Amino acid sequence: MKVDGRHYRTIWSERDDRVQVIDQTRLPHAFEVLTLEDLEAAAQAIERMVVRGAPLIGATAAYGLALGLRRDASDDGLEGGYARLLRTRPTAVNLRWALDALRSTVAPLPVDERAEAAWQHAARLCDEDVELCRRIGEAGLPLFRAAAEAKSSGEPLRVLTHCNAGWLATVDWGTALAPIYMAHDAGIPVEVWVDETRPRNQGAALTAWELGRHGVPHKVIADNAGGHLMQQGLVDLCIVGTDRTTANGDVCNKIGTYLKALAAKANGVPFYVALPYPTIDWQVERGRDIPIEERSSREVTHIWGRDEEGRIREVQVTPDGSAAANPAFDVTPAELVTAFITDRGVCPANRAGLAGLYRQAEAGQ
Ligand code: MRU
Repeated sequence: MKVDGRHYRTIWSERDDRVQVIDQTRLPHAFEVLTLEDLEAAAQAIERMVVRGAPLIGATAAYGLALGLRRDASDDGLEGGYARLLRTRPTAVNLRWALDALRSTVAPLPVDERAEAAWQHAARLCDEDVELCRRIGEAGLPLFRAAAEAKSSGEPLRVLTHCNAGWLATVDWGTALAPIYMAHDAGIPVEVWVDETRPRNQGAALTAWELGRHGVPHKVIADNAGGHLMQQGLVDLCIVGTDRTTANGDVCNKIGTYLKALAAKANGVPFYVALPYPTIDWQVERGRDIPIEERSSREVTHIWGRDEEGRIREVQVTPDGSAAANPAFDVTPAELVTAFITDRGVCPANRAGLAGLYRQAEAGQ
């Protein structure tokens, strides 16, 4: 993504003892880069959602563990760092995937070689994420083209998305937004309905910001508007990301995804889920076995924004004393998903579809 004429990834390193990330808690009002100098800073960046989105959480954890090994590459350092980072957020399986892969790369090495190997591994993981997302975009592009051509009206293809599964959620491109960017770049007229995605507003703040930077026409809508728009025939397809997809094809994604999938099914609107292979959890059979993150009730009772003087601040929206619950993710059963758009192509949203594309992974290889 270009910001002020410079191409940025969402995480990068200029020296091998620190890593830079974009502070997503400040967007869309301020573009600020944070430097992470140690494992604890990386862990806190994930916990505070300075970085978020399943693939970027995995990438940050990998760099975090690599930073930790620069200070202590012993077995204790490796295991302690692994455990600290794994505790940061429970739902996105990319976190465990990234930490497991890095640990198994460095554990067999002599202690004095581990830190450098970990650093190189983290850099490769980031490069791979960019490539996976690019392939998802390419796999989704023909679906978008066909849907656009099926419209006789000459109107833009109207796509609804939830949360942020874009550039900001990955290292580059995004998952659900990659086909949107590629369709737009290919001259297919696309207009995006952006669910605001309360309580943290990743849609209103992040998806709208990055679509705007890329020049993709979009409108932010209240989370409750999607069903109505589908009934009115104003949504041609939905596309979302996923934090964890189980072996049977159930999809765990940002809270509210399930309601959109139900509305799409009821209205005959295709509902696609974009996913790179590290988001598949072969160890979990069904969505109901996924741990759902319960976040602070303050995210529901309060809201962040910019006031007329340009100050970024938080205000309370509920009465004093009202309790709030804040489950951060929900599970969309596989039968509500039209198809998966993956880094290996499009497949049916079920066990056979995933296994057909990723047989080796399922066999644990
Ligand atoms: O709580 P967040 O902002 O980390 O949730 C992000 C999402 O739900 C995304 O849709 C998901 O991680 C897929 S991102 C490619």
